[in-house]
Amino acid sequence: MSRTFAMIKPDAVQAGNAGNIIAHIQKAGFRIVGMKLVQISMKQAQGFYEVHRERPFYGELTEFMSSGPSVVLALDAEGAVQKWRDTIGATDPAEAADGTIRKLYAESKGKNAVHGSDADETAAAEIAFFFAGTELVG
Ligand code: RTP
Ligand code: MG
Repeated sequence: MSRTFAMIKPDAVQAGNAGNIIAHIQKAGFRIVGMKLVQISMKQAQGFYEVHRERPFYGELTEFMSSGPSVVLALDAEGAVQKWRDTIGATDPAEAADGTIRKLYAESKGKNAVHGSDADETAAAEIAFFFAGTELVG
């Protein structure tokens, strides 16, 4: 078993798709070990996406991510990081495979419904960024 970090981004929460996406997560075979609704500040968004600071979309991205509530989750599965990336699909919904969450719910490359960690180390760091140990079930 390993763990990844997932986020249902403000576009999907705003569109009323959080429930469907949580159902999709459970049907895909993940065990939800942490989950809450948060609205991140601009500062938190800048910290969370620090690796993209030099990218042209950084301003737009951090503004969008702090624009409304998100659902943050910690998910357990066999090979959780890769399994979740496979479940969400490509960054750009136009390139996402059929049946993936981004194909189903994302509107654009920027507003793409969900986030997934890209490695075990980043998953651990992202979970620690959002959850206290007491907020994760055993
Ligand atoms: P994420 O980190 O959110 O799971 O997405 P990802 O790995 O698939 O994509 P990444 O390259 O890490 O980009 C992070 C987020 O930045 C926004 N983005 N916008 N307008 C653009 O060209 C562009 N490119 C990336 C997306 O919201 C992407 O998920
Ligand atoms: Mg990424």
